[in-house]
Amino acid sequence: MKLGTALSASSTKALLLGCGELGKELAIALQRFGVEVIAVDRYANAPAQQVAHRSYVIDMTDSQAVKDLIAKEQPNFIIPEIEAIATQALLEIEAEGKATVVPNARAIQLTMNREGIRTLAAVQLDIPTSQYAFAETFQELATAVDNGIGYPCFIKPTMSSSGKGQSMVKSADQLKPAWDYAKSSGRVDTGKVIVEAKIDFDFEITLLTVRALNEQGEIETHFCEPIGHRQESGDYRESWQPQAMTDAALKSSQEIAYKVTNEIGGLGLFGVELFIKDDYVWFSEVSPRPHDTGMVTMVTQYQSEFDLHARAILGLPVNAQSRSAGASAVILAASQGKDVTYENLDKALAVPESEVRLFAKPEALVNRRMGVALASANTIEEARKRAVKAASLVVVKSI
Ligand SMILES: Nc1ncnc2c1ncn2[C@@H]1O[C@H](COP(=O)(O)OP(=O)(O)O)[C@@H](O)[C@H]1O
Ligand SMILES: [Mg+2]
Repeated sequence: MKLGTALSASSTKALLLGCGELGKELAIALQRFGVEVIAVDRYANAPAQQVAHRSYVIDMTDSQAVKDLIAKEQPNFIIPEIEAIATQALLEIEAEGKATVVPNARAIQLTMNREGIRTLAAVQLDIPTSQYAFAETFQELATAVDNGIGYPCFIKPTMSSSGKGQSMVKSADQLKPAWDYAKSSGRVDTGKVIVEAKIDFDFEITLLTVRALNEQGEIETHFCEPIGHRQESGDYRESWQPQAMTDAALKSSQEIAYKVTNEIGGLGLFGVELFIKDDYVWFSEVSPRPHDTGMVTMVTQYQSEFDLHARAILGLPVNAQSRSAGASAVILAASQGKDVTYENLDKALAVPESEVRLFAKPEALVNRRMGVALASANTIEEARKRAVKAASLVVVKSI
């Protein structure tokens, strides 16, 4: 295991495709090992670009643009942070053996489309999921719902994230608007939507799972403590770690996470999303990268999810243990605008054991995540109270 020096002939280079708040923390974690970080996004001054050695603005869904940039920079590692990427370019680059795609090109391709990962989990690996169907026409959707999926159900574009284009449908009259919304709001119109029966879970978790090398050079799987979270409109608002659960549910969660990540392969951290009811666990989806709900690990673990991802990618050993209970709460913009300012940080940071991360996004949009408040405490209840309080004290303004 050998690392070089950034900005010298020996440098170890990492190219980040996608530069949001998760990429920013990953860039910092990589820089702590002297890695040269090149940050790429579709707009200028994205969060990770502000802490990288160099940055580029390109259309990451343009295969040729991605290939040209990789040929120019010749990175050792290509690390996708978002799903909207020209995966064909990554498959080719990986096949040529020129760079390591993290965790591998197939993982990026499988997880960017709900059909790929759902089929892998439910059909190939026989893991419990919600009952589901794919529909290419409204008629197919209506038939699938009538023939067993029933109400309530979720309609989602097959290519989307953060709840975009997603709706929960409670009765037949809401089906057509949900279809239209899914068809018009996905990242890419694949021509298909997924319809899933609503799972009546007690709570949902993200199980951060790390595939990293041990001292013998063998791949080992590590699990962080489960992270509980609360979603609103398909996007996360609060998360906490650890989420209390039965031994049986935890064991089953780890078995599912192991099966899925072992099938995907490669080195790195994965966010495995699971629904839990009593001892029963359903697989929902997986991110082959740090997860937004996992930002809480910046105050709960010895090594945050970003440290863990950086170490695993570089072939270094990891420690996924927790050191404290903690929580995170998002700081959202209330309106659209630029030249964003943040007031009352003094008050927010007076909350005991609290921290605030501001992402410095150049533009605010209604409900866009601009920052996150984190807090540790002796109990989850207290940590959640602190994080929510700190987040609510920050006032976001823009013009
Ligand atoms: N089948 C389902 N049953 C119950 N809740 C669901 C279901 N599908 C989605 N949800 C809720 O919506 C949230 C977002 O859905 P998800 O499929 O994770 O979309 P995204 O890829 O946008 O994160 C989930 O975390 C969960 O709270
Ligand atoms: Mg999700």
